Amino acid sequence: MDPRVAANRALWDEWTPIHVRSAFYDVEGWKSGSRADLYPLLVDEVGDVTGKDLLHLQCHFGLDTLAWARRGARVTGIDISERGIEQARLLAAETGLEATFVVADVAELPDHLEGQFDVVFTSFGAINWLPDLPRWAEVVAHFVRPGGFFYIAEAHPFAWAFDDDDTATELRLHYHYWPSPDPLVFPNEGSYADPDAPVEAPFEYAWQHSMGEIVSSLAAAGLRIEYLHEHPWVPWKMFPFMVETEPGSGVWRLPEPDDARLPLLFSLKATKP
Ligand SMILES: C[S@@+](CC[C@H](N)C(=O)[O-])C[C@H]1O[C@@H](n2cnc3c(N)ncnc32)[C@H](O)[C@@H]1O
Repeated sequence: MDPRVAANRALWDEWTPIHVRSAFYDVEGWKSGSRADLYPLLVDEVGDVTGKDLLHLQCHFGLDTLAWARRGARVTGIDISERGIEQARLLAAETGLEATFVVADVAELPDHLEGQFDVVFTSFGAINWLPDLPRWAEVVAHFVRPGGFFYIAEAHPFAWAFDDDDTATELRLHYHYWPSPDPLVFPNEGSYADPDAPVEAPFEYAWQHSMGEIVSSLAAAGLRIEYLHEHPWVPWKMFPFMVETEPGSGVWRLPEPDDARLPLLFSLKATKP
Protein backbone atom coordinates (compact mmCIF):
# COMPACT_ATOMS: atom_id res chain seq x y z
CA MET A 1 0.00 0.00 0.00
CA ASP A 2 1.14 3.54 -0.76
CA PRO A 3 2.73 4.75 2.54
CA ARG A 4 0.75 7.99 2.37
CA VAL A 5 -2.50 6.05 2.04
CA ALA A 6 -1.38 3.94 5.03
CA ALA A 7 -0.69 7.14 7.01
CA ASN A 8 -4.17 8.40 6.15
CA ARG A 9 -5.62 5.07 7.28
CA ALA A 10 -3.97 5.52 10.70
CA LEU A 11 -5.44 9.02 10.84
CA TRP A 12 -8.96 7.76 10.03
CA ASP A 13 -8.59 5.08 12.70
CA GLU A 14 -7.92 7.89 15.18
CA TRP A 15 -10.62 10.17 13.82
CA THR A 16 -13.40 7.57 13.82
CA PRO A 17 -14.18 7.47 17.57
CA ILE A 18 -13.92 11.28 17.67
CA HIS A 19 -16.44 11.50 14.82
CA VAL A 20 -18.84 9.00 16.37
CA ARG A 21 -19.02 11.27 19.46
CA SER A 22 -19.10 14.55 17.55
CA ALA A 23 -21.89 17.07 17.12
CA PHE A 24 -20.82 17.26 13.47
CA TYR A 25 -22.03 13.68 12.78
CA ASP A 26 -24.86 13.83 15.39
CA VAL A 27 -25.29 10.05 15.61
CA GLU A 28 -28.07 10.39 18.21
CA GLY A 29 -30.05 12.68 15.89
CA TRP A 30 -29.45 10.23 13.03
CA LYS A 31 -30.75 7.33 15.13
CA SER A 32 -33.78 9.16 16.52
CA GLY A 33 -34.78 10.78 13.24
CA SER A 34 -34.58 14.29 14.72
CA ARG A 35 -32.50 15.24 11.67
CA ALA A 36 -32.41 14.11 8.05
CA ASP A 37 -30.47 10.83 7.91
CA LEU A 38 -29.24 11.47 4.34
CA TYR A 39 -28.48 14.75 2.65
CA PRO A 40 -31.58 15.69 0.56
CA LEU A 41 -29.61 16.07 -2.70
CA LEU A 42 -28.52 12.43 -2.42
CA VAL A 43 -32.06 11.18 -1.84
CA ASP A 44 -33.39 13.21 -4.79
CA GLU A 45 -30.69 12.27 -7.25
CA VAL A 46 -30.05 8.61 -6.37
CA GLY A 47 -33.80 7.98 -6.28
CA ASP A 48 -35.68 4.90 -5.13
CA VAL A 49 -33.29 2.17 -3.96
CA THR A 50 -35.91 -0.30 -2.75
CA GLY A 51 -34.75 -3.84 -3.45
CA LYS A 52 -31.53 -2.66 -5.07
CA ASP A 53 -28.00 -3.84 -4.32
CA LEU A 54 -26.03 -0.77 -3.28
CA LEU A 55 -22.28 -0.50 -2.72
CA HIS A 56 -21.06 2.49 -0.69
CA LEU A 57 -17.38 3.30 -1.27
CA GLN A 58 -15.49 5.03 1.58
CA CYS A 59 -18.45 4.60 3.92
CA HIS A 60 -16.67 5.90 7.07
CA PHE A 61 -18.64 4.48 10.04
CA GLY A 62 -21.65 3.59 7.96
CA LEU A 63 -24.21 6.33 8.61
CA ASP A 64 -25.12 6.89 4.95
CA THR A 65 -24.81 3.17 4.15
CA LEU A 66 -27.36 2.34 6.84
CA ALA A 67 -29.59 5.23 5.75
CA TRP A 68 -29.79 3.55 2.32
CA ALA A 69 -30.63 0.26 4.09
CA ARG A 70 -33.48 2.08 5.89
CA ARG A 71 -34.79 2.95 2.42
CA GLY A 72 -34.90 -0.69 1.39
CA ALA A 73 -31.54 -1.26 -0.33
CA ARG A 74 -29.36 -4.33 0.26
CA VAL A 75 -26.22 -2.48 1.26
CA THR A 76 -22.49 -3.11 1.36
CA GLY A 77 -20.17 -0.45 2.77
CA ILE A 78 -16.41 -0.51 2.38
CA ASP A 79 -13.73 1.60 4.01
CA ILE A 80 -9.99 1.42 4.60
CA SER A 81 -10.36 2.13 8.34
CA GLU A 82 -10.84 -0.92 10.56
CA ARG A 83 -12.14 1.32 13.33
CA GLY A 84 -14.67 2.79 10.90
CA ILE A 85 -15.94 -0.62 9.85
CA GLU A 86 -16.07 -1.81 13.49
CA GLN A 87 -18.25 1.17 14.37
CA ALA A 88 -20.42 0.64 11.28
CA ARG A 89 -21.05 -2.98 12.30
CA LEU A 90 -21.93 -1.88 15.86
CA LEU A 91 -24.37 0.70 14.51
CA ALA A 92 -25.97 -1.89 12.22
CA ALA A 93 -26.40 -4.28 15.15
CA GLU A 94 -27.80 -1.55 17.37
CA THR A 95 -30.33 -0.36 14.78
CA GLY A 96 -31.21 -3.83 13.50
CA LEU A 97 -30.43 -2.78 9.92
CA GLU A 98 -28.91 -5.39 7.64
CA ALA A 99 -25.63 -4.49 6.01
CA THR A 100 -22.34 -6.01 4.96
CA PHE A 101 -19.21 -4.04 5.83
CA VAL A 102 -15.76 -4.73 4.39
CA VAL A 103 -12.35 -3.29 5.29
CA ALA A 104 -10.45 -2.51 2.09
CA ASP A 105 -8.52 0.11 0.19
CA VAL A 106 -10.75 1.12 -2.75
CA ALA A 107 -7.86 0.48 -5.12
CA GLU A 108 -7.69 -3.17 -3.96
CA LEU A 109 -11.40 -3.79 -3.51
CA PRO A 110 -11.78 -6.45 -6.26
CA ASP A 111 -9.46 -8.67 -4.14
CA HIS A 112 -11.81 -8.38 -1.15
CA LEU A 113 -15.34 -8.27 -2.55
CA GLU A 114 -17.26 -10.25 -5.13
CA GLY A 115 -20.37 -9.45 -7.10
CA GLN A 116 -21.87 -6.44 -8.84
CA PHE A 117 -24.32 -3.78 -7.71
CA ASP A 118 -27.25 -1.81 -9.14
CA VAL A 119 -25.92 1.33 -7.48
CA VAL A 120 -22.34 2.24 -6.60
CA PHE A 121 -22.37 5.33 -4.41
CA THR A 122 -19.80 7.68 -2.88
CA SER A 123 -20.05 11.16 -1.42
CA PHE A 124 -18.58 14.23 0.28
CA GLY A 125 -14.92 14.07 1.17
CA ALA A 126 -14.00 10.85 -0.63
CA ILE A 127 -11.81 11.20 -3.73
CA ASN A 128 -9.20 13.59 -2.34
CA TRP A 129 -7.91 10.69 -0.24
CA LEU A 130 -7.13 8.67 -3.37
CA PRO A 131 -3.84 9.01 -5.26
CA ASP A 132 -4.88 7.12 -8.41
CA LEU A 133 -8.17 8.21 -9.95
CA PRO A 134 -7.99 6.05 -13.10
CA ARG A 135 -7.64 3.00 -10.80
CA TRP A 136 -10.59 4.23 -8.70
CA ALA A 137 -12.72 4.57 -11.85
CA GLU A 138 -11.78 1.03 -12.96
CA VAL A 139 -12.87 -0.30 -9.57
CA VAL A 140 -16.12 1.70 -9.72
CA ALA A 141 -16.90 0.34 -13.22
CA HIS A 142 -15.96 -3.20 -12.15
CA PHE A 143 -18.67 -3.18 -9.47
CA VAL A 144 -21.51 -1.54 -11.45
CA ARG A 145 -23.85 -4.18 -12.84
CA PRO A 146 -24.75 -3.72 -16.54
CA GLY A 147 -27.85 -1.51 -16.46
CA GLY A 148 -26.83 -0.08 -13.10
CA PHE A 149 -25.26 3.26 -12.24
CA PHE A 150 -22.54 5.04 -10.32
CA TYR A 151 -23.39 8.21 -8.38
CA ILE A 152 -21.02 10.66 -6.71
CA ALA A 153 -21.67 13.96 -4.90
CA GLU A 154 -18.46 15.67 -3.94
CA ALA A 155 -16.80 19.04 -3.33
CA HIS A 156 -16.06 20.67 -6.68
CA PRO A 157 -12.36 20.40 -7.63
CA PHE A 158 -12.40 24.08 -8.56
CA ALA A 159 -13.36 24.99 -4.98
CA TRP A 160 -10.43 23.00 -3.59
CA ALA A 161 -8.05 25.44 -5.28
CA PHE A 162 -8.95 28.18 -2.75
CA ASP A 163 -7.46 28.71 0.69
CA ASP A 164 -9.61 26.97 3.32
CA ASP A 165 -7.39 27.80 6.29
CA ASP A 166 -9.18 28.95 9.48
CA THR A 167 -7.74 32.42 9.00
CA ALA A 168 -9.07 32.90 5.42
CA THR A 169 -11.49 35.81 5.17
CA GLU A 170 -12.26 35.71 1.45
CA LEU A 171 -11.66 33.59 -1.64
CA ARG A 172 -7.99 33.44 -2.42
CA LEU A 173 -6.44 31.15 -5.00
CA HIS A 174 -3.97 29.03 -3.06
CA TYR A 175 -3.63 25.41 -4.30
CA HIS A 176 -3.14 24.04 -7.79
CA TYR A 177 -6.31 22.94 -9.56
CA TRP A 178 -4.58 20.36 -11.74
CA PRO A 179 -4.03 16.81 -10.54
CA SER A 180 -0.56 15.84 -9.41
CA PRO A 181 0.97 12.57 -8.17
CA ASP A 182 2.41 14.60 -5.30
CA PRO A 183 -0.11 15.08 -2.51
CA LEU A 184 -0.79 18.19 -0.52
CA VAL A 185 0.57 17.56 2.97
CA PHE A 186 -1.28 19.11 5.90
CA PRO A 187 -0.02 19.03 9.49
CA ASN A 188 -2.76 17.64 11.65
CA GLU A 189 -4.70 19.67 14.12
CA GLY A 190 -7.66 17.78 15.55
CA SER A 191 -10.28 16.77 13.03
CA TYR A 192 -12.67 18.68 10.77
CA ALA A 193 -15.47 17.38 13.01
CA ASP A 194 -13.75 18.42 16.24
CA PRO A 195 -10.75 20.75 15.79
CA ASP A 196 -9.83 20.51 19.50
CA ALA A 197 -9.64 16.71 19.67
CA PRO A 198 -6.13 15.38 20.35
CA VAL A 199 -4.77 13.45 17.36
CA GLU A 200 -1.34 11.81 17.13
CA ALA A 201 -1.04 11.15 13.38
CA PRO A 202 1.22 14.00 12.26
CA PHE A 203 0.03 14.63 8.70
CA GLU A 204 -2.78 14.13 6.28
CA TYR A 205 -2.16 13.60 2.57
CA ALA A 206 -4.66 14.79 -0.02
CA TRP A 207 -4.66 14.61 -3.81
CA GLN A 208 -6.23 17.22 -6.07
CA HIS A 209 -8.32 15.79 -8.92
CA SER A 210 -9.56 18.03 -11.71
CA MET A 211 -13.04 17.76 -13.18
CA GLY A 212 -11.47 16.64 -16.46
CA GLU A 213 -9.64 13.84 -14.70
CA ILE A 214 -12.78 12.66 -12.88
CA VAL A 215 -14.99 12.58 -15.98
CA SER A 216 -12.33 11.19 -18.31
CA SER A 217 -11.35 8.43 -15.85
CA LEU A 218 -14.95 7.25 -15.54
CA ALA A 219 -15.48 7.39 -19.32
CA ALA A 220 -12.22 5.51 -19.96
CA ALA A 221 -13.39 2.81 -17.53
CA GLY A 222 -16.43 2.21 -19.74
CA LEU A 223 -19.11 4.24 -17.95
CA ARG A 224 -21.48 6.59 -19.78
CA ILE A 225 -21.90 9.99 -18.11
CA GLU A 226 -25.64 10.76 -17.70
CA TYR A 227 -25.18 14.13 -16.05
CA LEU A 228 -22.71 16.37 -14.29
CA HIS A 229 -24.49 18.91 -12.08
CA GLU A 230 -22.64 21.83 -10.49
CA HIS A 231 -24.00 23.54 -7.38
CA PRO A 232 -23.12 26.91 -5.76
CA TRP A 233 -23.33 25.52 -2.19
CA VAL A 234 -21.87 22.72 -0.08
CA PRO A 235 -23.23 20.69 2.84
CA TRP A 236 -20.51 21.87 5.23
CA LYS A 237 -18.63 25.06 6.09
CA MET A 238 -15.89 24.60 3.51
CA PHE A 239 -14.46 28.10 4.06
CA PRO A 240 -14.63 29.91 7.43
CA PHE A 241 -16.44 32.90 5.91
CA MET A 242 -19.35 30.89 4.44
CA VAL A 243 -22.93 31.44 5.56
CA GLU A 244 -25.60 28.80 6.19
CA THR A 245 -28.84 29.71 4.41
CA GLU A 246 -30.86 28.77 7.51
CA PRO A 247 -29.49 27.40 10.79
CA GLY A 248 -29.38 23.61 10.53
CA SER A 249 -30.16 23.56 6.79
CA GLY A 250 -26.75 22.18 5.88
CA VAL A 251 -26.65 24.49 2.85
CA TRP A 252 -23.51 26.64 3.03
CA ARG A 253 -22.98 29.40 0.48
CA LEU A 254 -20.44 32.10 -0.23
CA PRO A 255 -21.31 35.57 1.08
CA GLU A 256 -22.16 38.30 -1.44
CA PRO A 257 -20.84 39.29 -3.90
CA ASP A 258 -19.46 35.81 -4.61
CA ASP A 259 -22.63 33.82 -3.87
CA ALA A 260 -23.69 31.76 -6.90
CA ARG A 261 -20.73 32.88 -8.98
CA LEU A 262 -18.74 29.66 -8.58
CA PRO A 263 -19.38 25.93 -8.37
CA LEU A 264 -18.65 24.47 -4.93
CA LEU A 265 -20.17 21.01 -5.27
CA PHE A 266 -20.78 18.60 -8.12
CA SER A 267 -22.91 15.53 -8.56
CA LEU A 268 -22.48 13.03 -11.36
CA LYS A 269 -24.38 9.98 -12.51
CA ALA A 270 -22.86 7.44 -14.89
CA THR A 271 -24.39 4.25 -16.20
CA LYS A 272 -22.95 0.96 -17.40
CA PRO A 273 -24.44 -0.09 -20.73
C1 LIG B 1 -14.87 12.06 4.71
S1 LIG B 1 -15.04 10.33 4.88
C2 LIG B 1 -16.38 10.03 3.83
C3 LIG B 1 -17.58 10.40 4.53
C4 LIG B 1 -18.79 9.86 3.86
N1 LIG B 1 -19.34 10.82 2.98
C5 LIG B 1 -19.80 9.36 4.83
O1 LIG B 1 -20.76 8.79 4.40
O2 LIG B 1 -19.62 9.47 6.05
C6 LIG B 1 -13.72 9.65 3.91
C7 LIG B 1 -13.57 8.15 4.16
O3 LIG B 1 -12.66 7.64 3.17
C8 LIG B 1 -11.95 6.57 3.77
N2 LIG B 1 -10.76 6.31 2.95
C9 LIG B 1 -9.68 7.10 2.78
N3 LIG B 1 -8.83 6.53 1.91
C10 LIG B 1 -9.40 5.37 1.51
C11 LIG B 1 -9.01 4.34 0.61
N4 LIG B 1 -7.86 4.40 -0.04
N5 LIG B 1 -9.83 3.27 0.46
C12 LIG B 1 -11.01 3.19 1.15
N6 LIG B 1 -11.43 4.14 2.02
C13 LIG B 1 -10.64 5.22 2.18
C14 LIG B 1 -11.66 7.05 5.18
O4 LIG B 1 -11.33 6.02 6.06
C15 LIG B 1 -12.98 7.78 5.50
O5 LIG B 1 -13.84 6.93 6.20
